[in-house]
Amino acid sequence: MPKITYRSPDGTDTVVDVASPGTVMRGAKLNNVVGIEAQCGGSAQCGTCHVYVDEANTLPLPPMHEVEDDVLYGTASPRRETSRLSCQLPVTDAMDGLVVHLPEAQS
Ligand code: FES
Repeated sequence: MPKITYRSPDGTDTVVDVASPGTVMRGAKLNNVVGIEAQCGGSAQCGTCHVYVDEANTLPLPPMHEVEDDVLYGTASPRRETSRLSCQLPVTDAMDGLVVHLPEAQS
């Protein structure tokens, strides 16, 4: 299973084996990673699954859909160049090693 690293704002890493196919959000929720609320359950409506993809990432990520782009303007922590909704990031074997940073707040 692909390993995804969730880095909390204090720098603590939680490394999780995430089932594929799945999403970065679902992997966090199933493994009780603190910092992903995902209030809408993954339908790209709430913005509480906001993550910052590590700036050193070279893994292929899917392009951002217009809806995701809109929701990212309403997140509790500031949007950055690396912001994504983790519910819109699919986990495949090619995503092994992905590192995402959790924002200070989700709501
Ligand atoms: S879980 Fe709500 S936008 Fe991702």
